[in-house]
Amino acid sequence: MTTSLILAVETSCDETAAAVIQNGNEIRSSVIASQMESHQRFGGVVPEVASRHHVEQITLVMEQALAEADVSPDDLDAVAVTEGPGLVGALLVGISAVKAAAFAWDLPVLPVHHIAGHIYANHLVEELTFPLMALVVSGGHTELIYMEDHHSYEKLGETRDDAVGEAYDKVARTIGLPYPGGPEIDKLAGTAEPELALPRAWLEEGSLDFSFSGLKSAVINTLHNAEQKGRTVDPAVLAASFQEAVCDVLVTKTMQALEQRPVRQLVVAGGVAANQGLRAGLEEAAAGQEWKLSIPPLALCTDNAAMIGAAAHQQWLKGQKADDRLNGMPGLPLPLTSSS
Ligand code: KG4
Ligand code: ZN
Repeated sequence: MTTSLILAVETSCDETAAAVIQNGNEIRSSVIASQMESHQRFGGVVPEVASRHHVEQITLVMEQALAEADVSPDDLDAVAVTEGPGLVGALLVGISAVKAAAFAWDLPVLPVHHIAGHIYANHLVEELTFPLMALVVSGGHTELIYMEDHHSYEKLGETRDDAVGEAYDKVARTIGLPYPGGPEIDKLAGTAEPELALPRAWLEEGSLDFSFSGLKSAVINTLHNAEQKGRTVDPAVLAASFQEAVCDVLVTKTMQALEQRPVRQLVVAGGVAANQGLRAGLEEAAAGQEWKLSIPPLALCTDNAAMIGAAAHQQWLKGQKADDRLNGMPGLPLPLTSSS
């Protein structure tokens, strides 16, 4: 087996992260500097603030990742970085740092798609087994992706409006919970019963697409209607009902996708993979099935650089590398092999 030692960097949103990954599956170090507190008072990520934090942190975080892994630049085979999608100013900080390091250390640069990274977070726990289905659920994406092999992506369905994490964050804001709202709603949902009947957008028969804006509006309307009538709605019941509606749709559509395309593994990817309701729903659905379910541990669900290193290893094996023109690509699509 060809071995590799890769220094990977991730700065697409509000975490400045660097990691050293060996052979695509061994985490030698993984450092994450979170900016969450700075964004909390604005109720969301402020791009300009994010870029400035990345600039302050990036060198320190990269040095710390090397030190914790006990690795010197001479030991590295490549450097990897998130190319997109993400905030352009934030992406550029990581890309510039990695380009400079690659130039100084005479190493190739591996450009990684952020969503590919989230999928490959699973490879850090247990080897990916193809063909597989990936349920991608993050702040910017909700997609069902079929993979026949490494870095071969076929999109079977996607959201037509809000991403699921975005819906979580907006609903949390309406209830008055701090940013990021996903984990807060998740916690609150665990304390109550889902008593409110909220809508599920199933869309056309057989469609594997998603839609969460109607559900989000239903939550907001429920609160406003109650307010106008001088009543209160228990936020915990609202959170539990919202979470149940989201998980119902995500689990049901994933099962439908698996009927259309039999696989050996179902992997869950992105920040919302940390959700307790979704984890429980998928575990229940996976019982007795022929495919195995893989959900990363909580620390690997949200943004980190270890996942970027894991995805980069497979690109390194294929000899793929970026040239000097590598740039931040805010809307970079996954390189699809085909689309249904
Ligand atoms: O993947 P990620 O860290 O960043 C993006 O690439 O978007 O995902 C962040 C999203 C946020 O919307 C956050 O609220 C959501 O993931 N999230 C959760 C949970 N933990 C993070 N949503 C629901 N339940 C959670 N436990
Ligand atoms: Zn992410």
